[in-house]
Amino acid sequence: MNTRIFSKKDIEEAAQILKAGGLVAFPTETVYGLGGNGLDKEAARKIYAAKGRPSDNPLILHVSKMEEVYPLVESVPEKAKLLMESFWPGPLTLILKKSKIVPLESTGGLDTVALRCPDNGVTLELIERAGLPVAGPSANLSGSPSPTEASHVYHDLSGRIEGILDDGAVGIGVESTILDMSTDRPTLLRPGAITLEDLTEVLGEKPEIDPTLLGKKMEDGFIPKAPGMKYRHYAPKAEMILFCSLEEKESEDKTSEKKGSEDRISEGKEYEYKVSKRIAEYLEEEGKGFPREKIAILCAEETKHFYQEMAEKEGIILKVLGRRDEPLSMTHNLFRTLRECDEEGIGLILSEGYSEEGIGFALMNRMKKAAGQKIIAV
Ligand code: TXA
Ligand code: MG
Repeated sequence: MNTRIFSKKDIEEAAQILKAGGLVAFPTETVYGLGGNGLDKEAARKIYAAKGRPSDNPLILHVSKMEEVYPLVESVPEKAKLLMESFWPGPLTLILKKSKIVPLESTGGLDTVALRCPDNGVTLELIERAGLPVAGPSANLSGSPSPTEASHVYHDLSGRIEGILDDGAVGIGVESTILDMSTDRPTLLRPGAITLEDLTEVLGEKPEIDPTLLGKKMEDGFIPKAPGMKYRHYAPKAEMILFCSLEEKESEDKTSEKKGSEDRISEGKEYEYKVSKRIAEYLEEEGKGFPREKIAILCAEETKHFYQEMAEKEGIILKVLGRRDEPLSMTHNLFRTLRECDEEGIGLILSEGYSEEGIGFALMNRMKKAAGQKIIAV
């Protein structure tokens, strides 16, 4: 199959492919999705085959407006409606009880369905013109980082899908927040750019958090409720080690109530320094024998000066993710940087860890997954 690249002017053609049961990758504000007709079992089967993804992993159905949700679900609880009104179009996926028209093939056999209205004009028009809910997992091969540019999709899926609708690089760079609204209490299944704080404000109560997001392990019998979160995910080919500051975590828990912003800034410098020092130590000790040109350090703009001299001297690759004080700049670059590491044949990635506040929770969730939970506490 010859995979075509579509631009804005080809939306109608892309919509026709979806209607005819074919697959077209589409841009969103989070990551690129792999689209097919969400009401067609056969399209669902093709999506799983193209991604090389296990078919028990349910798909998100993308709609172009809230009204399109009603035929797909048993009912829309008041609070779910409030969330849609507050955050759609935007990076929030809601899980509700599905109606009969949604095939079990799209939901991995579950009686619930994931729904999202993406904040991308091109894709909203695509969905509208196709006139169907568009099933769309992230448009990567199963096991590699989600695509944040059309070229990533092409790299993973060319020859496997009919087309890619190219709308440049995405903004956010990590997948949507998933909130389960099918249970008594709203439960966060995957952190994203709509933060716990955002959800709490609209719901009037803090959602439950799936225990696996808080470090509870599958080995100990905790199974994530979003089936996709149990697979090895977002993983670069390199071994990745995350260096996290314990003090940062502790003081974060305290700071929210107690401390002024000035204290935080000076303390911030302190743990940044400790993490950088530990990374340098690791290179001299545990990582001594590792070929230097195959090592990458992932760091923040604010801390790159800690490594610059050593990196230049030894030929270690330094990659700046973004600014520590602008976590969205880091989510934006994370997956692209991990893909770059793969392409450059990097064998070892040493990465700084960051604050888990706000969107930092999503950033660190993806970083921990990329590192396969190899975390060194500093
Ligand atoms: O930002 C996003 O959400 C992107 C863009 C393309 O919209 N999509 C995305 O899809 O990340 P995917 O398939 O890579 O991740 C969907 C996640 C999986 O972890 C899946 O298990 C979970 O959503 N999920 C889907 N339906 C579910 C359901 N009914 N119950 C629980 N989890 C569900
Ligand atoms: Mg995915």
